[in-house]
Order: sequence, then structure tokens, then C-alpha cells
Amino acid sequence: MNGNGMRGFVLNNLWRALIVRYKNISAGGGVSPAKVYHTIGGRIAKRFGLRNTPFLPTSVDLEPIDTCNFACDHCQVTHWERLTTRLTMERFTSILRQLPALRQIKLQGMGEPLLNRHLIDMLEEGEREGIDMSIVSNGSIYTDNIASRLSSLRGTTITISMDGATAETFESIRVNGNFEKVVNNVADMVRRRGNNIWPRIELRCVATQRNAHELPDLVRLAKRLGVDKLTITTLLTDWGKEEMEGAIAPIDISGESSKTDRLIRESRKVAAEIGMRLSVERGQRYSEANRCPWPWTSSYIAANGDVVPCCQIADSSVVKMGNLFDEPFVNIWNNDKYRELRRRIAGNDIPNYCRTCYGMKPATASADREEEIRLGR
Ligand SMILES: C[S@@+](CC[C@H](N)C(=O)[O-])C[C@H]1O[C@@H](n2cnc3c(N)ncnc32)[C@H](O)[C@@H]1O
Ligand code: SF4
Ligand code: SF4
Repeated sequence: MNGNGMRGFVLNNLWRALIVRYKNISAGGGVSPAKVYHTIGGRIAKRFGLRNTPFLPTSVDLEPIDTCNFACDHCQVTHWERLTTRLTMERFTSILRQLPALRQIKLQGMGEPLLNRHLIDMLEEGEREGIDMSIVSNGSIYTDNIASRLSSLRGTTITISMDGATAETFESIRVNGNFEKVVNNVADMVRRRGNNIWPRIELRCVATQRNAHELPDLVRLAKRLGVDKLTITTLLTDWGKEEMEGAIAPIDISGESSKTDRLIRESRKVAAEIGMRLSVERGQRYSEANRCPWPWTSSYIAANGDVVPCCQIADSSVVKMGNLFDEPFVNIWNNDKYRELRRRIAGNDIPNYCRTCYGMKPATASADREEEIRLGR
């Protein structure tokens, strides 16, 4: 890209970012005094490591369903054996009532969100409440009706997982997926959106040993499809479970590696040349100096109402803070388990299930047991 082209690309992106931001504010999502109070308060509570906090979460991950039509090996859903739970519309609105400070909802957890047939109703309801809504989807559940309703959303970001730039690689990772179908669905979504800024349409790739060689081509595919952004992450989670490490460790490329460095550099270069917005997540998620914010600002709510600290765990069999259909969320938010989690994160006494985020080696079984006792399980 020449100087003028680069300037145009930067200005265009700046302009779109301003419009997107303005749309959120005009929808009322960002500026009510209560939401500003909880947003700023949450950051202060994290900074000072408060164990009790009067500030409610301003963002949550809310799981609409806990089952999937794909079977990706590195995803814990593939290894679950449990009956399916779907979030109902009634329960969704009851959660909104319990969490009045919400500015953002990621309406996705473990499973494929579009398998819940009320998903788009929930997205629309969240938009009406002025909340920034988002989903991450495998892009496979796509009828004319779904496509038309998704493309009419005006405050939602739709991210499609795209773990490869060729059918061979994509389908070897996203087991039961069909590359061509998913690509066509994304292209159709972009076409239906036309000149509208909303819904935002993005791609996300979990980069591993299996697909890293296709990253530069994935940037080109994202550009061809006309999506707003591509995110590449090398940050895998083991969902707080040592038994998942067998599926994660052999494909992990998050550490130092000249090959990964080269591929990421090349991807960035391609993105700059063709004018594709690219975000790369690499390295360690959190550290003593960069404390995990979840216990002060956000939470994960499973389809059955179980409250879990975050989406990196996303399973209440690992750690459960409470259930917001059994007791009010405000009580759970400052119960003994949350206070203990805040104490440990603030004191850099990192719980075993947080070890991947903090770049720590798997702890011993005795440490696991000790932790279970401390958490009262
Ligand atoms: C759990 S899925 C749920 C949404 C939807 N089924 C999908 O795949 O997009 C959300 C995202 O997590 C990613 N993912 C799956 N297993 C992961 C792991 N072990 N570590 C990090 N991300 C993972 C998926 O590739 C996807 O982009
Ligand atoms: S499509 Fe999403 S939820 Fe389903 S197995 Fe793959 S990563 Fe997991
Ligand atoms: S696993 Fe622990 S460190 Fe990682 S996001 Fe969750 S609470 Fe934070």
C-alpha cells in the first residue's frame, strides 16, 4: 500500500470506529450514569484488589446453549457427556433484570449459540436495552430466516470462527464442519448487510500447529469476504482442567518460536498491504503486573444459571460461584468464593484453574486437592 492508500485506510477505519462508537452511545448502552458508575468503580476495585465490591459486572458471557453440532478436539464441549440445557427467553430477561449495569453481553458460551432458536430474539432484546451484544458462531446454522434477521441487527457483532484458509485444514480442526458452506454463509451475511455498518461481521482464528501455515492466506480470505476484522489468537485454554492438556499442549504455539513470529509478521504485512484490519493475541494473558480483571468487572453465566468466574473456565464442574436462579446474583457476587478468588488474584496467589492464563506449569494433584478444600467443594 502506498502513502495515500495507507492514509485512506487509516482514516476510513477511524471514521467507521467513530460511527460504531457513536451508535453505541446513541443506543444508550455506554452512558447512563449507573453504567458509568459501575464501569469506573469496577476498574478501581480491581486496581485496589477489593475483596467486597459494590460495583456490579458491566459485561458478561451468557451461554444460550451448552451443546454443539461440531466436535473440535481442543474444545471441552466435544468431551462433555451431559444433557443439553437451553436458556429460555424468560430466563434471559430475568438475568437482564438481575444485572442492571451491563454494557456488553457476549451471548455465547460452550456450544453453538445459533442452536438456541431464541438467540436472535435475545440479541434484539439486548439491543433494545442499549447493550452491546456479540456472538461467536461456527457459521454453520444458516437459513434464509436466520440470515435475514441477523443482517437486520443494529448493535451486534457477529464473529465467525475460521480456523483455516483451506477446506482440508478447516475441516480437520472443525470436525463436522464444511469449509465451503461456512465461507458462503459469511459472504452472504456481508452481502445482505450491504452498506450498513451493523451488524459488525468478524472472523476469529485459534492459531495452532495445525493451521499456522495458513495465517497469511486467512488474512487474504478475510479481505475477499469483506469482513470488518480478523482476530488471530494463539492463546489456548485448557478450561482449568488438566485432562484437557493432552489435546492442547501438542498444538500450542503461544510460546516463543521463530516460525510463529515469521508467520505473524507475514500476516501483519499482508494485512497492511491489502488493507485488512487484523488483531493478534499472543503471549501470556495475565501476570502479577497485569492482573486478571474478571472477578471485579465480568462474569460467566452458564445456560443453567451457574455462575463461573470467566469464559476461560466456562464449566461449573471446575468452579461454581453460585446459581443465579437459586439466589440473587448480587449475593453471589460478594459471597465467600468470590471474595476468596479476589483475594488470591490480588495477592498473586493464583488458583490452579487460572494457571494457563498466568503462564504457569500444571500444578500437582495435591495442589488441586488443596484448592478444592479451600473452595469448599
Ligand atoms: C467455544 S466456541 C463457541 C462458539 C462457536 N461454537 C464457535 O466455535 O465459534 C468459541 C471460540 O472458542 C474457540 N476455542 C475452542 N476451543 C478453544 C481452546 N481450547 N482455547 C481457546 N479457544 C478455543 C473456538 O474456536 C471459538 O472461536
Ligand atoms: S464449534 Fe465451537 S463449541 Fe463447537 S466444538 Fe467447535 S469450538 Fe467447541
Ligand atoms: S481462568 Fe482465572 S485468570 Fe483466567 S480469566 Fe478466568 S479468572 Fe481470570
